[in-house]
Amino acid sequence: RSRRALRAVASVATAAEESAAAAQGRLESLSQVAGVLGTQWGDEGKGKLVDILAQRFDVVARCQGGANAGHTIYNSEGKKFSLHLVPSGILNENTQCVIGNGAVVHLPGFFKEIDGLESNGISCKGRILVSDRAHLLFDLHQTVDGLREVELGNSLIGTTKRGIGPCYSNKVIRNGLRVSDLRHMDTFGAKLNTLLRDAALRFQGFEYSSKTLKDEVEKYEKFAERLGPYIADTVHFVNQSILQKKKILVEGGQATMLDIDFGTYPFVTSSSPSAGGICTGLGIAPRIIGDLIGVVKAYTTRVGSGPFPTELLGKTGDLLRASGMEFGTTTGRPRRCGWLDIVALKYCCQINGFSSLNLTKLDVLTGLKEVKLGTSYCTEDGKAIESFPADLDLLEKIKVKYEVLPGWEDDISSVRNYGDLPETARLYVERIEELLGIPVHYIGVGPGRDALIYK
Ligand code: GTP
Repeated sequence: RSRRALRAVASVATAAEESAAAAQGRLESLSQVAGVLGTQWGDEGKGKLVDILAQRFDVVARCQGGANAGHTIYNSEGKKFSLHLVPSGILNENTQCVIGNGAVVHLPGFFKEIDGLESNGISCKGRILVSDRAHLLFDLHQTVDGLREVELGNSLIGTTKRGIGPCYSNKVIRNGLRVSDLRHMDTFGAKLNTLLRDAALRFQGFEYSSKTLKDEVEKYEKFAERLGPYIADTVHFVNQSILQKKKILVEGGQATMLDIDFGTYPFVTSSSPSAGGICTGLGIAPRIIGDLIGVVKAYTTRVGSGPFPTELLGKTGDLLRASGMEFGTTTGRPRRCGWLDIVALKYCCQINGFSSLNLTKLDVLTGLKEVKLGTSYCTEDGKAIESFPADLDLLEKIKVKYEVLPGWEDDISSVRNYGDLPETARLYVERIEELLGIPVHYIGVGPGRDALIYK
């Protein structure tokens, strides 16, 4: 071989070694209990990072939400998996998965997901524990979700119609059914009847008869039997695991801007996808939680209705949607696209106290002449707005001030070392770090498991 060819081979080997060392360093230094949380309006690509990190953790747990999450993961053979309720850790055979008390479980959907995984050779029995305190989401909740959206007409929230909101409503008004109720099938029917009757009284189009109840109870008798081996006191399990020095990774669904308290209410989800949700949804004490990684898409997307200050309605938005394949995993709905919103991100970082960030989909911005960061908000008449406003009317009319940075042309999807990124791409990453005051430790440059730069 020529000397130049040998030099090229040697430099590829060094680059690969460098990237492996960077990965090793990052992954080994993660705390015993860590979390991965969405920072925008969801779909940031949390599933991929969780799947990668899961290899270093003993337990991967979901603490909130239900099958409204839609994680897309590609395994090492490039096979695509779409997960909704089952934690992304399931693809890693040594990981124990937990669905915590803060989650809501639709059993027909849960078993469908399990059947799909098992038919692809991924064993689930004994590897997933479902909290006996988690609430059961029934088909009736999905029907109610749809009827409520119809009723809202033009001002609909744009939910995934998975019944998540109605199920959490029952939890809060304290007539919901929990997984532990499956242990008492003698009283199950009466409790379920209360929910069905309430829904029928409230919604004209809701079909309800004694047959509906009988059919549903029969279905749940079978589910109770099948779910038996999965049911556990996960508060006890997770805390025992912590005492046994096992490593726990919490997988957030949705994101802070969709948080029931902190998000753009009412265009939000019904749970707490922020750091606090880890404590309430798993029973983990706050002081035990260590690293929290915020997942930030290199631009912003949002599904459904609600204010979106940096939204791009023209060609650039269409371009981001097409190259970022911005269509919902759960519903297939096209996502609205826009520039990165630093004001919203600062608000989110404040609430969660992230130790580091994962910037995803940086590759999608390749080819743009310039990239923009929305760095401040002001009112229509130019008055500065200091923090992310609760007032949606104000948010709808807000003016965003942008910082314009140069783009990059080179394909970055095969880059694995930070230093090999084009200078302007590095400038973009570093400006985000500077504005948010949090280091970016992981950069996504493609959908695959290996398409990650450890910085
Ligand atoms: P939610 O919990 O529903 O918010 O899902 P999520 O945050 O896990 O995101 P989701 O998996 O729905 O969407 C991310 C999509 O982007 C998936 O199709 C991923 O394969 C893909 N993806 C993740 N990281 C990258 C990346 O760095 N570059 C590119 N091009 N695609 C990525």
